Amino acid sequence: MSPAVPARTLGNKTAWVTGASRGIGRAIAVALAEAGAHVVLGARNLDQLRQTEEGLRAAGARVEALALDVASFESCEAFAREATERAGDPAILVNNAGIGIFRPVENFEPDEFERQFRVNVFGTYYMSKLALPGMRRLGAGHIVNVSSLAGESEAPMGTAYFASKHAVHGFTKCLLQDVRDQGIRVTLVCPGSVDTRFHIDSHPGMHERDQSWMVPADEIARAVLHAINAPAGTCVSRVDVRPLSKPRK
Ligand SMILES: NC(=O)c1ccc[n+]([C@@H]2O[C@H](COP(=O)([O-])OP(=O)(O)OC[C@H]3O[C@@H](n4cnc5c(N)ncnc54)[C@H](OP(=O)(O)O)[C@@H]3O)[C@@H](O)[C@H]2O)c1
Repeated sequence: MSPAVPARTLGNKTAWVTGASRGIGRAIAVALAEAGAHVVLGARNLDQLRQTEEGLRAAGARVEALALDVASFESCEAFAREATERAGDPAILVNNAGIGIFRPVENFEPDEFERQFRVNVFGTYYMSKLALPGMRRLGAGHIVNVSSLAGESEAPMGTAYFASKHAVHGFTKCLLQDVRDQGIRVTLVCPGSVDTRFHIDSHPGMHERDQSWMVPADEIARAVLHAINAPAGTCVSRVDVRPLSKPRK
């Protein structure tokens, strides 16, 4: 539980959070629940989601854990249906689920390259498409897309991941133009290096290394809450959060 989260401000709101089983998504889900939202957690690892659900419910929060594979539209549809039944229309959607596959371009198998886009880009589109009708019924909403500073930069071995985040940037900026006149806010969140398992899982064979210089996941959650708590009529359209300094190579 993060003490940095503002007092209960989201009492009448339902929030869907993708990729909530660990890392940044879990931190955002906890912060939203602490702020009083009814939070629906989605990810593939239902056991991990249920642990978070249990802990938050014990603390008095309203939380639902549902299996979700954002790479599959059918799975997203099932999630949206069940989430709406349990918690009503979503006022907030956090598209956080993401993977990173890093290798030289000719070493990618086509299905891996496609998977990078299915999770990071198509998943963001699927969930936005499914959340928007509920937000329109509510007359207001907020979509938060967790992208990356990789969405506007480049790095060796980053063709798939960086390109997928460039796509998330473009999608998010255009989405805001589609929905802003309907009272729906859209925020692009761009973390730099964050202290999660992402780095280990993205580079198989890489040894665990010191990540203490990286931004804690709770700080990304704090930035998301800041954007969500902006006054009505104001849209925080982009937030960058990066470590102040990096370790010397
Ligand atoms: N860590 C960083 O330095 C960093 C920097 C910039 C941006 N980001 C972005 O932040 C987001 C979260 O990353 P993280 O650092 O928290 O990584 P993480 O610890 O690896 O967590 C990734 C989350 O995404 C979920 N996920 C992956 N594939 C999924 C799928 N097909 N369907 C549903 N959920 C899926 C995972 O859950 P399951 O495995 O249970 O499905 C997990 O909850 C990502 O979009 C990432 O690109 C991270």
